[in-house]
Formats: sequence, C-alpha cells, structure tokens
Amino acid sequence: MKKKILVTGGTGYIGSHTAVELINSGFEVLIIDNLSNSREDVLEGVEQITGVRPAFYNFDLCDLSRLDDFFREHSDMAAIIHFAAYKAVGESVEKPLLYYRNNLVSLINLLELMGKYHVPNMVFSSSCTVYGQPEKLPVSEQSPILPAESPYGNTKQISEEIIRDTLKAVNELRAISLRYFNPVGAHDSGLIGELPLGVPNNLVPFITQTAAGLRDELSVFGDDYDTPDGTAIRDYIHVVDLAKAHVIAVERMLKNKQKSSCEVFNLGTGNGYSVLEVIKAFESSTGVKLKYKIVGRRAGDVEKVWADTTFANKELGWKAARDINNMMATAWKWQQYLMANKDRYLVLSQE
Ligand code: WQD
Repeated sequence: MKKKILVTGGTGYIGSHTAVELINSGFEVLIIDNLSNSREDVLEGVEQITGVRPAFYNFDLCDLSRLDDFFREHSDMAAIIHFAAYKAVGESVEKPLLYYRNNLVSLINLLELMGKYHVPNMVFSSSCTVYGQPEKLPVSEQSPILPAESPYGNTKQISEEIIRDTLKAVNELRAISLRYFNPVGAHDSGLIGELPLGVPNNLVPFITQTAAGLRDELSVFGDDYDTPDGTAIRDYIHVVDLAKAHVIAVERMLKNKQKSSCEVFNLGTGNGYSVLEVIKAFESSTGVKLKYKIVGRRAGDVEKVWADTTFANKELGWKAARDINNMMATAWKWQQYLMANKDRYLVLSQE
C-alpha cells in the first residue's frame, strides 16, 4: 500500500516538482490548491513525466469545514508538505492583511486538523528571508532571525513560531521547516517549470521572458552594492534539488530519524552568484544574448546572502547537485516550451 502524502500548493512551482519526485519515490500524492497562482493543467506535465496524475482537490485551505471533510476522508495521510502561501514580497507590502490571513490561517487550519485526525508529520516551506541581511556569511540555521523585510517574510517567521508552539502543546506532531534560498530552473523534461502569472517579480523568469522577446530588456536592480561586480548576490538552487530534499525530509520523519520534533534546515548550494554572473551563466549556457540595463536598487532587497549547507548535507544526507549552468539551461528549455504552447500559456505571462 503506497503511503499518502498531501502536497498543499501542489500545482505551484516547487509543489509540482516535489509531486514528481514523491511519485518517482513510490508515494501516493494528493494535491490541494485553490489555483490562485497556478493552473490545473500543470498536472498534465506531472502525468507526462511520471505516468501518474495526482488526485487534485480545488479548494482554499482557509475553508476549515471543507478541509475538515478532506481530513476525514484521508486521515491515513502519512505526511503533509505545506507549500500553499502567497509569496510576492512587493505585493505583501501593499496588502499585508491578505498575506497574514491567507498564510497564517491556512497553516493554523492544517495544524488543528492534524491534531484532530492524528496526522503527525508536516514539512513546512519556509524561506531564507527569515534571516534578513545576515551580519555573517554564509548563513547557518543558528544565524539570528532578524526583523523581516516584508509582511511575506514575517508570515514565514510567524509560521515557524506557530509550528514550534503547536508541537510543544501537541506532542504527537512532528515538523521539519525547510528554509529555501532562491529556487530557479525547471525539470529536465521542460514539461513543468515556474509559471509566473503576469509580470515576473523574480530574476530568472524575467531573464527567460526577455530572452524569449516577451519583455524588452531586463532591469538590473542596482550595481552599487558592496560585492565584486556591484550587483546583489543570492544562493540560487535548482528546483529539482529542492524537490528531492523534500522527499528526504518526509522519509526522515516516516523512519523516525528526527533528532527533535521540530527541525530546521537551510536548503541552498552554499555558492553565491551576483545578478551579472547569473546573466553571464544564462548567455553561456543558452547561447542567447540578453538585453539589460542597470537601474536603481529595489526596495527591500538584501545585499548578499548564501547558505551554510553543512547541516543539511550531514544530517539529511542531501547536497544540491546541479550547477548554475544547468539551472539556466533548464529554465530556458521550459520558457521555449511555453512559447511553443502559446495558446495555453502566453496570455498568462503577458497580463
Ligand atoms: C534576485 C536578485 C534582485 C528581478 C525572493 C523572495 C524569496 C523567494 C525568492 C519566495 C535580487 C535581482 C530581480 C529583476 C533584478 N521567494 N533582480 N531584476 O528577492 O532574492 O527572493 O524570491 O520564497 O523569499 O524574497 O529573488 O529573484 O526577486 O531577486 O536585478 O527584474 O535579482 O534585486 O538581487 P529575491 P528575486
């Protein structure tokens, strides 16, 4: 009998890649998603890759009674991977209450029902934004949590605290929070990837859309940072490496290997790349020249951040395997797939 894993936000970017890796590892995947920032036909891609179309439930996790019905039907779930959340940093500054309500109520509903139906395990999708601009680099799990730069980042900090407090009160619950650095790239097949609805906030989808001619040119937000080439540095990690780490985290819980009921891991590569270095990697791995201009800094951006990955490497036995060139090549392959399937996608990316 396959163990059931609920993936909330499973039609999203990281969720869909994680669904693929879970299915490939022999799990039965259930997806809950309200499609507020994704499309159901992502499941076509998952099915083409794995031969399996995950069971999909289209509703909002903030609807407690609907979620209760789901738990009653699937109280045999072995674990939950909770991705579903709003995640646009800029939008969270304009609409903080939307972010606090959605990101926190959905988590609270899940935790409450996990206790009620004795579903013990949660892997939580957290973010390196909890560290703000670290004083010391690379940043480890023991690095101080600094005041969040945005309501979005604050919802991740508060969520980790809610999980910690709930686990103290309900001792059968277990959790692993995974703090992602910058997820980029796409599945090797080019059949699933990041599908930004509207104008992309993030660097790599903006690069690939510019290269595809959907955007005139890329704006590089600032070249006056205290970095070798003046542009900001991030730890970009391939989404497939990230997805594989989620499967390892679930297996760690199912085999009772956790050292404590509430663990936290940084998921990065340990390498920092500047914006200009990412652009150069894109051009060299795709052969496509990119048009860009240097503009002013973006409010809320940190200058430089990259991960100390020794804890995840040692404790999880996981290490990011794909380099920046593969990240760029797969992101480009996915963008070309989108262009070849314009009828289904182009209208979304031009909104
Ligand atoms: C990366 C770098 C920009 C766009 C955010 C969230 C984080 C996570 C990933 C959810 C920065 C520069 C960007 C552009 C640019 N999301 N840039 N021109 O801001 O590091 O992280 O997304 O979990 O939580 O905070 O990612 O891709 O937006 O920016 O120069 O058009 O690229 O200034 O230096 P970020 P990003």
